[in-house]
Amino acid sequence: MTGDSRRTAPPVPPPAVGLRGLPPAERRRLVAAGAGLTAEESAALAAGGLDIDAADRMLENVIGLHALPLGVALNLVVNGRERRVPMALEEPSVVAGLSNAARMLGAGGGVDATASAPLMISQVQLVDVPDLDAATRHVLDARATILAACDAADPALVAAGGGARDLQVRRLDPAGPRDPLGPMLVVHLVVDVREAMGANAVNTMAERVAPELERLTGGRAGLRILTNLADRRTVSARGRVPFEALARGGFAGEDVARGIEAASVFAERDPYRAATHNKGIFNGIDALLLATGQDWRAVEAGGHAFAARSGRYGPLSVWRVRGDTLEGELTMPMAVGLIGGAVRAHAGVRAALKILGATGAADLAEVAAAVGLAQNLAALRALVSEGIQAGHMKLHRRKV
Ligand code: MEV
Repeated sequence: MTGDSRRTAPPVPPPAVGLRGLPPAERRRLVAAGAGLTAEESAALAAGGLDIDAADRMLENVIGLHALPLGVALNLVVNGRERRVPMALEEPSVVAGLSNAARMLGAGGGVDATASAPLMISQVQLVDVPDLDAATRHVLDARATILAACDAADPALVAAGGGARDLQVRRLDPAGPRDPLGPMLVVHLVVDVREAMGANAVNTMAERVAPELERLTGGRAGLRILTNLADRRTVSARGRVPFEALARGGFAGEDVARGIEAASVFAERDPYRAATHNKGIFNGIDALLLATGQDWRAVEAGGHAFAARSGRYGPLSVWRVRGDTLEGELTMPMAVGLIGGAVRAHAGVRAALKILGATGAADLAEVAAAVGLAQNLAALRALVSEGIQAGHMKLHRRKV
């Protein structure tokens, strides 16, 4: 342990609004007032955010509602703006962990996050193609017509500034002698989906142009569906924490920083550790996505596939010591949207988006990445200092 970093007082700013120690109704009142929720919206939150009639319109064979606690994490500064993060989950320590880590990142100036353009990819599989090279040429030559046909399938998206942007043809060869199929072609349709998550838009386009792709290739269309490996729609978050803000109990900030760097390298070298490292990231991201009505399974699938894109599964975030700070960076696909789906149907989701102050899909993606980075920091800091069980057991005792 290095004495120096322990001597310096942590320059961590106090939370703007404290919610600890208050009863849930009082917390809700404070958060609702801060977010400008109507009395109706606030009441919807208290009641679980969803009534049985709305639920019955969302799903088949509905027999009831399934509730989870909804918490709010504080202190997270993303691109200079402080956010309150609604989180729906069952695991203790996550909300408190995020608020704490967000405060530490705040001591380094907050998290900078950047979302790419909202480009989703839809795949059309073509089998029994007689001449793969000729078929590839025919599809590429017809690029403009195919993209126009995609756009014609969704005039509302085009009116909103989105639409088909690009097309790629990929050849997938048999994996080995036991592979039951010959080579196939896959056409990727790259579509700007603007404020939507985009699954419906791009699936419709793939289905719409599949007959033309069959004609051009002489093959047979198989699957026509988006890929959740949305690697053209990524988000990056970066943050730094001065050593002294990482100090914890008897652990000096510099030691914690070096421990976190070593934990990052462990995950970079070992998929067994990377899976758990990424699980900690998704603790925060999934809870936010669930609260805000997103398809968190899609984001999980995309995140894990992205984590394995080199051919070996790795961590979504990396931490390094630089000078007297710890710096972290996270990049991953983030297919989230603010129109359609649960955002329309679920009153609690609408209230959660208001609490977050989400200004658009890119903003939500940037906050989600910042949450992932901060949640990861919270877990790693606990793991390299007193261990994860101390906090967990404290909260567990409270529950019992
Ligand atoms: C537990 O839900 C998450 C952690 O296992 C994450 C990690 O190990 O980095 C603590």
